[in-house]
Amino acid sequence: MRITDHAGRPIGASVEDFDHTTASPSDIAALKETVYRRKIAVLKGQELSPRSFLELGRRLGRPETYYEPMYHHPEVTEVFVSSNVLDNGKQIGVPRTGKFWHADYQFMPDPFGITLIYPKVIPERNRGTYFIDMGAAYEKLPGELKQEIAETRCRHSVRKYFKIRPHDVYRPLSEIIDEVERKTPAVLQPTLFTHPMTGETVLYLSEGFTVGIENAQGEPLDEALLQRLFEATGQLDGTFEHENIHLQSFEKGDLLVWDNRSLIHCARHTTTPEPTVSYRVTVHDERKLHDGLEAA
Ligand SMILES: [Fe+2]
Repeated sequence: MRITDHAGRPIGASVEDFDHTTASPSDIAALKETVYRRKIAVLKGQELSPRSFLELGRRLGRPETYYEPMYHHPEVTEVFVSSNVLDNGKQIGVPRTGKFWHADYQFMPDPFGITLIYPKVIPERNRGTYFIDMGAAYEKLPGELKQEIAETRCRHSVRKYFKIRPHDVYRPLSEIIDEVERKTPAVLQPTLFTHPMTGETVLYLSEGFTVGIENAQGEPLDEALLQRLFEATGQLDGTFEHENIHLQSFEKGDLLVWDNRSLIHCARHTTTPEPTVSYRVTVHDERKLHDGLEAA
């Protein structure tokens, strides 16, 4: 196994000759250290079935199965499928997922630390995923903004981007909204937490999932504060040219492993409808999202 940091950029490393069936515990530790330090590790030359992709994920942690079954791979439920390609005339997984800034499972009480994405059908033109390192973005905030959010908490919900399921057709929208709020009530997290693996301070919020901010006493703060944070971190830049935004490209055989605590991401918008299929496995590592959850 060979690990090479991507030169000239703070994010990214390539990992060659990684075989999850033979990797030693020290290889796995080195891979995870790379994920936390470089935020994205690109495993090169992977040829995996859905089941072997899951087995690879298991080497890094405990898999979390997505709560909505319509995203599941038909044979391996732990594999989440994003696809706009019909398989024998059938939709597998869900098309056009994640085209908004978010951390995976940010709206859930116990988000996992690591996301693995294995692109299967790669678009010709608009390939890649956008990322923002919210640890680095926090460091760049003006001092007064840092002070303003020091003791605050944020509320996260899936409500803005919950996708209507096939069986929701003909249901009243109010009933669907009630169901979303009942099954996935908004969760509160500290706006800032210490990354348990690196010690860095992470600004944990996203335009897609963060729906409110409150002070230490639980009193709601002005929505404008959230907007200023989205703006300052680059999440409102529709051109994706903000200095905080990193475009991670990939080619056939690449498997991306990233730090789901530090990074928020946004699927690249395609102007032309190109076929795209990717598999995702998500895993809990040895620690909770942050140590505040450990105690809970
Ligand atoms: Fe995502």
